[in-house]
Amino acid sequence: MAHEVLVPADLTVHEGMVPVRDPTAPEGLAFVHGDAAKPLATPWQVALERALLMDGDRLPVGPVLDPACGSGVQLAALAVALGRPALGVELDPSRAMASALNLAAVAAWYGEEDEAWFRESRVLVGDGTDAAAVLAASGHASVGVLQLDPARPRNSRTHDLSEMAPSPDAVLRAWAPHLAQGPEGPALLLDLSPRLLHEQRLGVEAIVDASLPGSARTWVWGSRGGGRVDRLSLWLGGCATANVARRFLRYPPDGGPPLVLEGGRAVALGDDLPAPARRPPVRGEHVTLLDAALLASGLADTWLRHHLGEEADLHWGEVDGRRPRVHHHAPLTLEGEEGGLVQATGRLVAVVQKAPSESTVDDLVALALEHDVARLTLRCSLPDDLQPRLQGSLDRQLRRRHGRRQAFLCEAGLGPDVHLLCVGPVPRDGADS
Ligand SMILES: C[S@@+](CC[C@H](N)C(=O)[O-])C[C@H]1O[C@@H](n2cnc3c(N)ncnc32)[C@H](O)[C@@H]1O
Repeated sequence: MAHEVLVPADLTVHEGMVPVRDPTAPEGLAFVHGDAAKPLATPWQVALERALLMDGDRLPVGPVLDPACGSGVQLAALAVALGRPALGVELDPSRAMASALNLAAVAAWYGEEDEAWFRESRVLVGDGTDAAAVLAASGHASVGVLQLDPARPRNSRTHDLSEMAPSPDAVLRAWAPHLAQGPEGPALLLDLSPRLLHEQRLGVEAIVDASLPGSARTWVWGSRGGGRVDRLSLWLGGCATANVARRFLRYPPDGGPPLVLEGGRAVALGDDLPAPARRPPVRGEHVTLLDAALLASGLADTWLRHHLGEEADLHWGEVDGRRPRVHHHAPLTLEGEEGGLVQATGRLVAVVQKAPSESTVDDLVALALEHDVARLTLRCSLPDDLQPRLQGSLDRQLRRRHGRRQAFLCEAGLGPDVHLLCVGPVPRDGADS
């Protein structure tokens, strides 16, 4: 089927579309969105950071193709950062128009309206899996970089690969013969549901193996904090980083550059979640509650060993849920942004045999005072209405006393009652006794 072709450089402002500020975009750069497309759009900060991570010298020659471009935000970031023509395809005509306008907005913001990349950019209305028709309508013979961010059902329970539209399998089969070869083969960036299970990630690997056998691959987990994986993507061939199987990006709330951790083993070799070991807690050891998103990336063990030493004795008490917990011998001291990867860390000073409740809160205060605690944070699962009441009571009672340490209470993984009281060091001049 023939595709309608929009030329971003020839467009004027579209009356029906109102620019919406993306809080992650710089002052003066606003985007428009077609029907129901705003929630699907990639935040500008994420789109640009990813584009800047690509090394243009390793990419094949040719335009950046996004065969399901939505509002075109990711496409525009790649096109401007790489200085290459954008080729967007979108089934929905209003979204296609938004993509064309957003490409123009980005070119204007960078003062690049006269650059070849922008003048040669095109957005097509139609099916992005019809490679022959897209190439014929755009006048390109092949593609330099393929970026795909398929639509996914909003409330999917299964995050099944077959729910993605267009399906990555259909896109790769259609486009593999038309991808130009660079020094590392073709170059692709695939956005996937952040909730994909390991088995589903293996399913994606199988799809890649079928169309692009032997491509280098880097899996990338992105998080804005709160232990959530917000983005999962697979970078292939010229987009992958040599010898980096996994990358974890933590975006700071202030919009600054992300913290980047890299390493680990190929996803095909395992999920690399640490194995939990049921063992009694040992007083004096250190307990750390880690960021759940870092754990999901399979890089937690490598990262901890980087800080605690290769030979560190790590005992994982909990690997699922919101508060992954690891026990280790030496204290974990972190500086700067890396501190954000830890929910809490401290020395285990007491095993508490009762769950926190209104009837045990005074005992908890007494125990905290024995250990010189100024603030005790509850980091255990409690009913929504009870948690703030207990935390408030602890805060009020401890504030009136003279403790100096920060502390937390977490589950021990030994049934609903057993909890661990862990303390931080005495601030500044005092020694951690
Ligand atoms: C998640 S959105 C892409 C968002 C984009 N990354 C952005 O920054 O705005 C996916 C888009 O794919 C489009 N789509 C689904 N199937 C398609 C197909 N076969 N061809 C072209 N577009 C398709 C949907 O209409 C939707 O707008």
